[in-house]
Amino acid sequence: MADSLEKLRSEALASIAEATSVEALDATRVELVGKKGRITQQLRALGQMAPEERKRLGAELNALKQTVDEELKNRRAELEQAREAERARQEVVDVTLPGRGRAPGARHPLSLTRERIEALFAQRGFEIVHGPEVEDDFHNFEALNVPPDHPARAMQDTFYLDGAKLLLRTHTSPVQIRTMTQRQPPIRIVAPGRVYRCDSDRTHSPMFHQLEGLYVAENVNLGQLRSELESFLKAFFETDLRLRFRPSYFPFTEPSAEVDIDGDSLGTGRGWMEVLGCGMVHPNVLSAAGVDSARYTGYAFGMGIERLAMLRYGVGDLRQFFTNDLRFLRQFV
Ligand code: FA5
Ligand code: MG
Repeated sequence: MADSLEKLRSEALASIAEATSVEALDATRVELVGKKGRITQQLRALGQMAPEERKRLGAELNALKQTVDEELKNRRAELEQAREAERARQEVVDVTLPGRGRAPGARHPLSLTRERIEALFAQRGFEIVHGPEVEDDFHNFEALNVPPDHPARAMQDTFYLDGAKLLLRTHTSPVQIRTMTQRQPPIRIVAPGRVYRCDSDRTHSPMFHQLEGLYVAENVNLGQLRSELESFLKAFFETDLRLRFRPSYFPFTEPSAEVDIDGDSLGTGRGWMEVLGCGMVHPNVLSAAGVDSARYTGYAFGMGIERLAMLRYGVGDLRQFFTNDLRFLRQFV
């Protein structure tokens, strides 16, 4: 018995020392001191022994169990420490790796274009003013010489709100009326902003941007309008582009014209594209806004900001400006 106890002891201590993981050590523990473990069984067998032997062997077995428990505890601590060290090694952060970098934000090409147009008109003595996007019929149509049921209303497919009392402005021309009802000539303003029409194709978007221009004073004439627009367009495109004034019709101007630009002359477009409407302010419009039409004359124009941006940047479809595709937008940084 003494011999087998010595054997049990050396085997037990060896298997504890050989366990290379917490899991393996647990298995060893069950094997030795678990419910059916080798040492547990021996302890249980003491009951069958004669008192003398039980006393002697009991003391030795208990000492062995104590040693084994102690060793299990020590080995477990070692293995846990090793496991922790390995985890720390694997999770190490390499602080010398290069950073991922940050993509800088940038102005939207339409904002760049609007700012460029505003700056050029500011240089020419125009003040920048703003008007509301939700308008009423009076400012968007009636004061602009478009009475109810006038066929010209069909020229712009309107989004109506609130039982047709209010609407999304179809152009920036209502800002002409708002400005003239608030102050007297000389008036020299531009009014940029969003406008809305039920429209959508390669050169039309349901929401787009216009910039309105209005100059009212004594003796304003068509020649001034023409030279102002030509000078602006040449400065905007920084080249001697080909453009044409084409007679047109607007109820709020007389005479009226539209300006087309030849995209081929800029190397960015295909053929002629309309960029603006303009004309001499109709006397009915001056009167409706409280300006003395016997004393003052004026010119006005309304240009499409998307159209100018398309020609300047060579964008073939204006809907690209509204898709928020970063691959497109990054080109304008
Ligand atoms: C007007 O809106 C007039 N209010 C312009 C005007 C102002 C004339 C002052 C006389 C005096 P028109 O509907 O043609 O006109 O639009 C003017 C410009 O806006 C067009 O030349 C074009 O450049 C642009 N435009 C018109 N519709 C769209 C659209 N759906 N998407 C993008 N641009 C458009
Ligand atoms: Mg037009």
